[in-house]
Amino acid sequence: MTAPRARMTHWYSVPRLIDIGTRVAVSTVFGEFADRRSVLTAERHIDPAAIDPSYVYAPDQDGNFWFDFAADTGDGWDSTYAVARLLAADAVDPAGNTDGALRRGRLLVLGGDEVYPTPSDERYRVQFVAPFAEASGGITPADPESDLYVMPGNHDWYDGLSAFLNLFCWRQLPGPWSPGRRGNRIGLWRTQQTRSYFALKLPQNWWLWGTDIQLTNYIDQAQIDFFEHIAREWMPEGARLVLCAGVPDWVYADPSDPAKTFTHFSFVEGILHRVRRNQRLAAILTGDSHHYSRYREDDRHYITAGGAGAFLHPTHHLPEQRTFDWDWPRPNPSVGPSPAPSPPGTAGTQPHRRSFTLAHKPDGTPSVFPDQATSRRLTWLDLAFAAFNWDFALATGAFWALLTWGLDATAHGTGTSLPSLLIAAADFWGGVYAYVMLAIVAPWPLLVLLALFAGFYYLADFKARLVVGLLHTCAQIVPVVLATVALARSAPWAHSSFGLIVSVGVAGALIGGTVLGVYFLISLNCFGKHWNEAFSALRSRHYKNFLRLRIDRSGALTIYPIGLEHVPKDRSAANPALSPILIEPPIQIR
Ligand SMILES: [Fe+2]
Repeated sequence: MTAPRARMTHWYSVPRLIDIGTRVAVSTVFGEFADRRSVLTAERHIDPAAIDPSYVYAPDQDGNFWFDFAADTGDGWDSTYAVARLLAADAVDPAGNTDGALRRGRLLVLGGDEVYPTPSDERYRVQFVAPFAEASGGITPADPESDLYVMPGNHDWYDGLSAFLNLFCWRQLPGPWSPGRRGNRIGLWRTQQTRSYFALKLPQNWWLWGTDIQLTNYIDQAQIDFFEHIAREWMPEGARLVLCAGVPDWVYADPSDPAKTFTHFSFVEGILHRVRRNQRLAAILTGDSHHYSRYREDDRHYITAGGAGAFLHPTHHLPEQRTFDWDWPRPNPSVGPSPAPSPPGTAGTQPHRRSFTLAHKPDGTPSVFPDQATSRRLTWLDLAFAAFNWDFALATGAFWALLTWGLDATAHGTGTSLPSLLIAAADFWGGVYAYVMLAIVAPWPLLVLLALFAGFYYLADFKARLVVGLLHTCAQIVPVVLATVALARSAPWAHSSFGLIVSVGVAGALIGGTVLGVYFLISLNCFGKHWNEAFSALRSRHYKNFLRLRIDRSGALTIYPIGLEHVPKDRSAANPALSPILIEPPIQIR
């Protein structure tokens, strides 16, 4: 039986917002009081003597080793399935590639958010397992498997990680209570990890770490100890590391308060520095932002590739450079004198400047996908917010209809009705005056509007939150009040209470959604704010991406960023052709 085809998540559905809000609150509180990772550490014992041979990879016969990184899967069927098809194909040859066919990875690392909006066994089955299994069509159990390693993102954590652990951490090593068990098979991939974080030994002295930052960008001490043990005991001198991080901290960090975001990332990147075995952090891969971008800091590459299925995020808000002072560690000890190897905030630290610069392609445009002009243009679709988010518009309309009903009841208390009151006024502005006077007769309309203001104040992602919240509240209320008066005075069907209530409901739905869309459009295109909200509203399935990586016999790591501009609708077994492109020339690290 084929699995149902999931549609892109409606983020502005009111029941969904309530469900997500509740789960975020509950899981954050429980995550703080009872961190599941502590249980995992005790329950999933790892032998400290030597690395599990399952995590050791050798080159292929031709001396190359291929692996893939993708992040933020499991939203709508079309986008997740399209990326899964590219990942499952024996090889891809994206437009612009001159290196020959790029072979499927021996392992696939998923960088978080494997399902949206909240996890459950069923959601993983429908939104993640089904598209990946179907994309592997024709693969038989006898075919060689690829290994799957999965990092949890915040969306995987909204049930305390239960469903994630069942699916991705099913493998168990033999122990006194169990003969051990193999990981789950998902299409052509088989899960290998036993914890929510992992370390892999790749060929040519390359290593890969995948971290788990839980809900709050927080790395627990047991995880730090785990990675530090690996760097100290298992990784040889001069090893090179690909770090798969939970979020792009280098972009998210607020330069005026970088510690809030950057501290835990810094703890992880500082491990190699503390161990002092001439090991080098060469590349950082992440998702969480659903686009492609590449930053540079000295000779390090910081790549965000969160485009494996989830709705598109913009790229035109990304800063050309993110700079802030940071105590420790220095990103590349080979550049200039090294500061003392002590943790941030302790005596003896030497502040230095962290500077992350957006990389550029040979044509001079930033190394982002989609390109910034396209991203800016797409933001204008927010003008159709009410159409994209019809369920939100309906809820807004219901709100205004109820408010109008309440005002009409108040008018009835004085022996008239709301439409009669507005029609009886001498002119349009007299009608507006009558509306306002009626609204302040009783305290409840003001309390309702105050609650509305509180909502827009909370939403505003600006330093001048009060002003922006106030302006937005006015922008929402004033047009509806004017529309109510205009409808009552000029539309014959709105001369009755019922007619006016329904008419205001319809007008309120259009106005509420559209004003919110305009707010997001202005916020993003003029101030670089609300990039997540402005694009989650659009639920775009297009502009997907993932990374194909190769370690060759010379020991060089080459990263191929692969993009897919157009994602076809694929609700049948038709499998329309896909046209992948190389987002920018391959990135080579030695
Ligand atoms: Fe995500």
